[in-house]
Amino acid sequence: MAALRSAVQKSVARSGIASSRRGFASTAPALKAATLKERLAELIPKELENVKAARAEHGKKSFGPVLVDQLYGGMRGLPALIWDGSVLDAEEGIRFRGKTIPEIQEALPKAPGGQEPLPEGLFWLLVTGEIPTAEQVTELSKDWAARAAIPDFVEDIIDRCPPTLHPMSQFSMAVTALNHNSAFAKAYQNGISKKEYWGPTFEDAMDLIAKLPNIAGRIFRNVYGGGKLPAIDPTKDYSHNLATLLGFDDKPGFIELLRLYITIHSDHEGGNVSAHTGKLVGSALSDPFLAFGASLNGLAGPLHGLANQEVLIWLRKMQSKIGENATDEAVKEYVWSTLKGGQVVPGYGHAVLRKTDPRYTAQREFALKHLPDDPLFKLVAQIYNIVPGVLLEAGKAKNPWPNVDAHSGVLLTYYGMDQMNFYTVLFGVSRAFGVASQLIWDRALGAPLERPKSYSTEAIKKIFANKSA
Ligand SMILES: CC(C)(COP(=O)(O)OP(=O)(O)OC[C@H]1O[C@@H](n2cnc3c(N)ncnc32)[C@H](O)[C@@H]1OP(=O)(O)O)[C@@H](O)C(=O)NCCC(=O)NCCS
Repeated sequence: MAALRSAVQKSVARSGIASSRRGFASTAPALKAATLKERLAELIPKELENVKAARAEHGKKSFGPVLVDQLYGGMRGLPALIWDGSVLDAEEGIRFRGKTIPEIQEALPKAPGGQEPLPEGLFWLLVTGEIPTAEQVTELSKDWAARAAIPDFVEDIIDRCPPTLHPMSQFSMAVTALNHNSAFAKAYQNGISKKEYWGPTFEDAMDLIAKLPNIAGRIFRNVYGGGKLPAIDPTKDYSHNLATLLGFDDKPGFIELLRLYITIHSDHEGGNVSAHTGKLVGSALSDPFLAFGASLNGLAGPLHGLANQEVLIWLRKMQSKIGENATDEAVKEYVWSTLKGGQVVPGYGHAVLRKTDPRYTAQREFALKHLPDDPLFKLVAQIYNIVPGVLLEAGKAKNPWPNVDAHSGVLLTYYGMDQMNFYTVLFGVSRAFGVASQLIWDRALGAPLERPKSYSTEAIKKIFANKSA
């Protein structure tokens, strides 16, 4: 125990978590806790004080004017939420608790012989703001493996779905049904005090993440074949088990890809559709299964998570129309035909980002390392040189650069997962990490019911009838 404590303290010193970027009060914690829940119990009172102090000092300060256009324009840029796990900068991209993707690739523990970060470590980072030790990450892997089984009736729900039902609809149904055994819902019915909400929310959040591989694996095998679902191996990490359940554990590259994939898809601050939906639904004290089921329904939209499936479909259509190894001119013409057909180029543009998404770059680097000569990867690279120019010339998109979805399908396809309709399920497994960690903090900090104000167009006209500016 003493050795573990000293290892944890060293890791904290290395990670520089006293830096103010990590979001918590700036005093360096003396880590004693071995488990994530114990560590949370230590952090919560400090963070309650931190939030109280922030509100006392800044609570009455203005974030600037709200434009009527923002009400009509999908609330772009409207400061409206607190989200601690990550912050997105338009130019630089995402930082998880203050760390860029290359920084977390460097700092988080890896599997033996692996090079990519273990998502277990990312979850610890999202929840605590601290880089965990290898031992803490191993304990999380074991804990999730122990919680991984899903109830028989949830298996039945999945098995009764027609294989033609989109995997995301099956996924959301199964996650929603997990609410049957919610620790939070039960505790609430038993009259739990507000101060204790975070405990059963933590248990639900851990159960949620732990059970997703069994749900995803079952859907995959039901829809695409692949035989009986194997058992979870408690000695393996989360991504390895997910690969096993999907039937891809014979490919070490695929397991490494999943580790990177889950890590970079986990969180993208709070305003995106899936994250915000989870927070919103959770604010009604719906348990994490209900809240994350709602997130998944948002992720299933083509302007959000479904874009990764759309990219592959678009690429395949392009190949069937202009052939493989097409010239730049032919590709350019195809991109124009997409725009002229009133469709979006999937995988390009972003509501916040104004540069190439660093999640795209991380996947490109993975491809350069593992599949540099893959024809589909070469096509993605070719498109990267063409689409931004076309979007700029078309003059509508505020961001002509690629987002995360432009690259992920190509990597999955390389390892034999060419079932495009399934791709968003993997995005969903990953997004649970970010939504679940924020739900824990929302309940710990007593986040209130969300209830922004809406206006009718008539009301807007009346309000501004006699005002010139
Ligand atoms: C992500 C997305 C929904 C952001 O939307 P947004 O914040 O409204 O983006 P913008 O402000 O740049 O949109 C301005 C216009 O450019 C268009 N535009 C944006 N990205 C585009 C793209 N990739 N292809 C074609 N047109 C695009 C928008 O549809 C909009 O057109 P409109 O004025 O006719 O409605 C948008 O870029 C998009 O549809 N991308 C393709 C889908 C995708 O990859 N989604 C995953 C995002 S991670």
